[in-house]
Amino acid sequence: MADGRALEQVVVNLVDNAIKYTPGGWVALGAVARKSDLLLTVTDTGPGIEPHHLARLFERFYRVDPGRAREAGGTGLGLAIAKHLVQGMHGEIGVESGASGTCFTVRLPLAVPAPG
Ligand SMILES: Nc1ncnc2c1ncn2[C@@H]1O[C@H](COP(=O)(O)OP(=O)(O)OP(=O)(O)O)[C@@H](O)[C@H]1O
Ligand SMILES: [Mg+2]
Repeated sequence: MADGRALEQVVVNLVDNAIKYTPGGWVALGAVARKSDLLLTVTDTGPGIEPHHLARLFERFYRVDPGRAREAGGTGLGLAIAKHLVQGMHGEIGVESGASGTCFTVRLPLAVPAPG
């Protein structure tokens, strides 16, 4: 029911980040179909993102550490694209982060609202 190519791009962007920003540790993917939605999670054990960055994280070109992100080849577009695609599928994207890692959550409705 979702746009397959969009969904693939969202997962690729989140997994790319999880691997790129986790210098050592692990990355885990989760997918659970619930009653009315699908819940996808991408969790890592990286350094985490400080709370004051979280509100702006999905903005175009926003990078937590511009110097380091540029070294890693980042343009700061991956999360903005992911958010745009998730919203296009009537879903929601969110993030929780702490000192022990980061978890991105994508929630997609299993039934899309009727147009209009
Ligand atoms: N899993 C994560 N752990 C720690 N920081 C993260 C994680 N995911 C994203 N970030 C931070 O959020 C910023 C924005 O991520 P985004 O994917 O939009 O851009 P990017 O990875 O820098 O570049 P691009 O995705 O365009 O190659 C990153 O620069 C990084 O600082
Ligand atoms: Mg990225």
